[in-house]
Amino acid sequence: MFSVGFMHQARSLELPCLCWLFKLEQWDSDEPISREDLLKGVAGAHGILCLLSDKIDKEVLDAAGSNLKVISTLSVGVDHLAVDEIKKRGIRLGYTPDVLTDATAELAVALLLTTSRRLPEGIQEAKNGGWISWKPLWMCGYQLLNSTVGIIGLGRIGQAIARRLKPFGVQKFLYTGRRPRAKEAAEFQAVFVPLEQLAAQSDFVVVSCALTPETQELCNKNFFQKMKKTAVFVNVSRGDVVNQEDLYQALTNGQITAAGLDVTSPEPLPTNHPLFSLKNCVILPHMGSATYGTRNTMSVLAVNNLLAGLKGEPMPSEFKL
Ligand code: NDP
Ligand code: DGY
Repeated sequence: MFSVGFMHQARSLELPCLCWLFKLEQWDSDEPISREDLLKGVAGAHGILCLLSDKIDKEVLDAAGSNLKVISTLSVGVDHLAVDEIKKRGIRLGYTPDVLTDATAELAVALLLTTSRRLPEGIQEAKNGGWISWKPLWMCGYQLLNSTVGIIGLGRIGQAIARRLKPFGVQKFLYTGRRPRAKEAAEFQAVFVPLEQLAAQSDFVVVSCALTPETQELCNKNFFQKMKKTAVFVNVSRGDVVNQEDLYQALTNGQITAAGLDVTSPEPLPTNHPLFSLKNCVILPHMGSATYGTRNTMSVLAVNNLLAGLKGEPMPSEFKL
């Protein structure tokens, strides 16, 4: 797998259909490329393969210059890319939807159960001597059976989460988004509701929407105040969809019971961040798609997107600009 690559293109004029030569410059490390190296490396490139940790903004596009024809990101999320600017410059964009949906939904369910059934606390108590005897209400949490689950963003991942939660005996699914998705919602008899209603009626809220200017800090003080005191909040979308200060207040004031976050703002979240001090907050290091199989498939797709874009062919997964 390569983290970030810059493709400089040399095309044989004699055999235009058969022979494409690309010079590849690769940042050959699992650690993110520094901004300085990124700006230097992209100069004159025809294509860029990037990660979600690489901010591709106007400065990077300017540094790349007019050769740049294609950007391929190893992610389904495109919030790290200056999409409007990319469109304006006629650059094509490849991304990796679908192939990571199952892994991310699986992780979302794992995080929901870990949080609602207080697994980290239980493990800690068992280890540190807090487990003295079996007690009727000790380590009690909340279960999915007969619950109402609210999904913010019933897209590919949101649907895959609902599909996995249904067999747990969920009574009702609510969802919100820009518009009803009747066809997709039918599988779960999910009901389209305004955000406030979803907050007020859900026992579990799962955030699986894209980060856009409209979803930035969608989950804020107002949202958490409307939630049930017994509700569990899970975010596998992007950290910026949540106002973390407001979430901290909601968790410490007893406005909600617990939160599970696979994504934070910033990433990595500093280890001294107040959210890390809370027993009722489970934080993971953005590992939704982190299975060997999924990351390999994402890598192959990202490379194929890049190559197709360089050759002017249809990409396996092109983001519609
Ligand atoms: P989709 O495009 O299939 O779904 C995106 C969802 O966002 C849609 O349901 C859309 O709803 C919703 N949405 C967009 N705007 C709004 C809005 N204003 N209010 C509420 N909902 C909105 O994408 P995926 O399901 O494939 O991925 C979703 C996101 O998950 C990615 O963008 C990424 O940020 C995150 N992700 C995180 C991973 C992790 O490791 N934790 C792994 C993979 C993805 P509608 O169109 O109906 O309005
Ligand atoms: C994405 O693809 O957007 C994820 O956050 C990482 O897989």
